[in-house]
Amino acid sequence: ERSYKVTLLPGDGIGPEIMRVAVDVMQAVGRREGITFDFTEKLVGGAALDALGVPLPDDTLASCLESNAVLLAAIGGYKWDSNPPHLKPETGLLGLRAGLGVFANLRPAVVLPQLVDASTLKREVAEGVDIMVVRELIGGIYFGKPRGFDVNETGDRFAFNTMVYSTPEIDRIARVAFDTARKRQGRLCSVDKANVLQVSQLWRERVTAIGKEEYPDVELSHMYVDNAAMQLVRNPKQFDTIVTGNLFGDILSDISSMLSGSIGMLPSSSMSESGPGLFEPIHGSAPDIAGTDKANPLAQVLSAAMMLRYGLGEVKAAEIIESAVSSTLDKGYRTGDLMSAGKTLVGCTQMGEILLDALEASSTVT
Ligand code: IPM
Ligand code: MN
Repeated sequence: ERSYKVTLLPGDGIGPEIMRVAVDVMQAVGRREGITFDFTEKLVGGAALDALGVPLPDDTLASCLESNAVLLAAIGGYKWDSNPPHLKPETGLLGLRAGLGVFANLRPAVVLPQLVDASTLKREVAEGVDIMVVRELIGGIYFGKPRGFDVNETGDRFAFNTMVYSTPEIDRIARVAFDTARKRQGRLCSVDKANVLQVSQLWRERVTAIGKEEYPDVELSHMYVDNAAMQLVRNPKQFDTIVTGNLFGDILSDISSMLSGSIGMLPSSSMSESGPGLFEPIHGSAPDIAGTDKANPLAQVLSAAMMLRYGLGEVKAAEIIESAVSSTLDKGYRTGDLMSAGKTLVGCTQMGEILLDALEASSTVT
């Protein structure tokens, strides 16, 4: 029997609701596949601020570092929005990513056949989209120094951040992206702002060099970020794998996610050089619907599947979960974010129960 230590970070807003569904699903698939999970639940974000006064308690990071993988739901909420920077929930998430060294964030944007009509794009534009955004996660302007607030000679306040990437930081994310593209359709588009920013000029130079030296079989192209944003909506099928820095990746992955109909569908995985990976939906904590049982738990459930596949090497268990999601959608069940005519509206808890039924049903067939 395989056993894994997993730290669960439900966080804020809808986090605890969607995490409960993912845990039930993992336990069901674990019983079936002979996998036991040793779950430890810890506080992060606003929940940690309220209980302990810090957004990332030492004991949370320590538990994550001792685990085989970390599953996070979402952090943040109106309540903490006006806190000073070091007491914001987001600072806890960024500290967690940095503390785990998870530099490579993979964000798939797939339009599932059942959800083509949930996309705001025309069927012919959305159908068949399958993009992987590889986002650098622990560098760039999110972490660059110097940063801060100050007052100039004329007494005006100003604020500043620094977008910085070193060659080793660019090289290692480029390699992950080329490896990812190689396992997909073999096409990589690197997105930057090299017409304006020096940091992007170095980025482009290094990605080009790594491509030439190590991945001559992968077709590499470059695009400015403003054009990439437009192209993602104009003709998303031109993309296979995209690699970009932290801020551009944040923005482009939200755009890409809407191709699929709802940001509530999309998981992500973040890997370091050797330690535990961090798995989380790309959506936020949706404080407006927290506690109403309206949240879509599927991004969280699919994040658990990504954890099984990439973080724990349990590919079969991941596939079982993904096919349960797919058959649930086939049967027409939808949470509010994906609702359209002729479908059956369900809440978060009910979606979880239907997933468990789908898991049961598939085990009696195979
Ligand atoms: C994301 C989120 C985070 C980010 C926030 C909550 C700090 O938007 O995971 O995309 O900007 O990385
Ligand atoms: Mn984001």
